[in-house]
Amino acid sequence: MLALILLGAACTKKETKVASPVEEGKRLYAVHCTACHAADPKKDGAVGPSNWGSSLELLERKLVHGDYPPGYTPKRPTRVMVQLPFLKDQIPNLHAYLNSP
Ligand code: HEC
Repeated sequence: MLALILLGAACTKKETKVASPVEEGKRLYAVHCTACHAADPKKDGAVGPSNWGSSLELLERKLVHGDYPPGYTPKRPTRVMVQLPFLKDQIPNLHAYLNSP
């Protein structure tokens, strides 16, 4: 009986563990970005360029509006990337991951 209670407590702890912004950003990046960008964001992918070190503003423009901050020189002249506006609220997490050491 005690074992069951302890087991229950251990499970609850696991489920309520909150991912850090960097962990959450990494997960989101793997799900939504690696179809085109490299699994390692420091490297160029098959379709998309490296996006390591992207600013909040660049991520917001590219994901929500499909363009670039004023005066920014894009790494590629193409317009292949899809807009992913549903990730708007996740941009701080993606930013944390893409700017982590
Ligand atoms: C459908 C393929 C595709 C997906 C999915 C995709 N990208 Fe891109 N991305 C590209 C391509 C291709 C470019 C180069 C510019 C262009 O053609 O739009 C790019 C460019 C970028 C740039 C600009 C880089 C620079 O400095 O010029 C950023 C930032 C970026 N992507 C971030 C992301 C993030 C973050 C995700 C996931 C949330 C993502 N992309 C998902 C294809 C993709």
